[in-house]
Amino acid sequence: MMSNKAKMIVDKDFKIGEVDKRIYGSFIEHLGRAVYGGIYEPGHPQADEQGFRGDVMELIKGIDVPIVRYPGGNFVSGYNWEDGVGPVESRPKRLELAWMTIEPNLFGLNEFMDWCRKANTEAMMAVNLGTRGPNEARELVEYANHPSGTYLSDLRASHGYKQPHNIKTWCLGNEMDGPWQIGAKTAAEYGRIAAETGKVMKWVDPTIELVACGSSSLGMKTFPDWEATVLDLCYEQADYISLHQYYGNRDKDSANFLAQSMGMDSFINTVISTADYVQAKKRSKKKINLSFDEWNVWYHSNEADRQIERWSVAPPQLEDVYNHEDALLVGCMLISMLKRADRVKMACIAQLVNVIAPIMTANGGAAWKQTIYYPYMHASIFGRGTALVPLIQSPKYDAKDYTDVPYLESVAVHNEEKGEVTVFAVNRHLTDSLPLEVDLRSFGDCRLIEHIVLEHDDLKAANTIDAPDRVAPHTRGSAAVDGSRIEATLGKASWNVIRLKLA
Ligand code: AHR
Repeated sequence: MMSNKAKMIVDKDFKIGEVDKRIYGSFIEHLGRAVYGGIYEPGHPQADEQGFRGDVMELIKGIDVPIVRYPGGNFVSGYNWEDGVGPVESRPKRLELAWMTIEPNLFGLNEFMDWCRKANTEAMMAVNLGTRGPNEARELVEYANHPSGTYLSDLRASHGYKQPHNIKTWCLGNEMDGPWQIGAKTAAEYGRIAAETGKVMKWVDPTIELVACGSSSLGMKTFPDWEATVLDLCYEQADYISLHQYYGNRDKDSANFLAQSMGMDSFINTVISTADYVQAKKRSKKKINLSFDEWNVWYHSNEADRQIERWSVAPPQLEDVYNHEDALLVGCMLISMLKRADRVKMACIAQLVNVIAPIMTANGGAAWKQTIYYPYMHASIFGRGTALVPLIQSPKYDAKDYTDVPYLESVAVHNEEKGEVTVFAVNRHLTDSLPLEVDLRSFGDCRLIEHIVLEHDDLKAANTIDAPDRVAPHTRGSAAVDGSRIEATLGKASWNVIRLKLA
């Protein structure tokens, strides 16, 4: 059955903003099997001389991930970065209180930077503002970025890294508003320590950029007062404010589940308004942009995680097995960020391998793509250029928590260099296809390159080690082009990528 038609008008002059490629970033935390058994597994048949898994690296390169946040997450709030550098045999094993495991410290800052170089990505480094403060953070910047001639820069050289790592992007702690955080703080406490830490980090290296912690989710009671207070206290030092948001489908209500990106839209818009309020209050010329540095679906593994024994090394934590509907919501969330490409300049899908991740591995065995790999890959590969305002008319529905939910979620990106426009579109309708007309009026004649579709009859279908391609995209989408008008029928519950070449 078909629901009423949807229409989208896109004009090359109605620009949202340049897409900063760093919105396609990801995250590797010392948590579960993200590092150990994920990106790093010495002895694996496909590991290189440093123990980096080549099969995982290939899957990551397939996405073209521009930036990776490290080493946490909650982990960073109890981490001593010094434990992870220098000769491996003298590194301490420690109780890790964020995830109740043992951290062997076989992998640390220098290994991560080597891995980044091999994976063609850059680092977003977080400092510990839970148990530590400005002194350890400025020492870390000196160790990582100062060229030479001081104790810490020479120490780095003695560890085999003569050249500075020149890490440009730094997070001032992680989720400091959360009671689960080691060393959680009030907004006033955090705002002050963020300001003092940021100040000395920038004194060591004035070229770095800093991300201050925003609220841990839209649902935090202190949101958005937290953002207002924190930015008021560290406006001068911060360049970005962070947002984190995960969604689940615990009520088994898929229509409501797919509507949740509307919450993400309002989260983004409220943080922009709050940042701009503080800017106005301070009569400042500086704009604070957004770093959505944790986002994804996360709930499938909650019960299994409760069964994990304390104090093991790299247990299978947060190993969500993603299904088809999860991929649809991930697609909607990517569209949400593109719709505010003017202000969302960085984002990290959390995380990259095994831990709530698009890539899964078996220890000693295969690596495969989860369902959510596909929308993330499509957006990263085809969603670079200028995001365009989507003028949308769509039939709507009411869900439990959201009203007037458009069946069509969509945005277009114009890549001027390649002479291409890509339309990303989700049909949220669970049972009906949706006819779509896209009017690309100002672009003139277009040619269809391909219409990629991710669809499946079973919303709960997932990819596993035994059936790694159960949910995979095809290019048999129905889009047809007539001049600058595109007609397509979007299958029920589908993710669509309509790629157009401009004349
Ligand atoms: O990504 C998993 C965890 O989620 C991170 O460690 C934390 O920052 C968030 O609560």
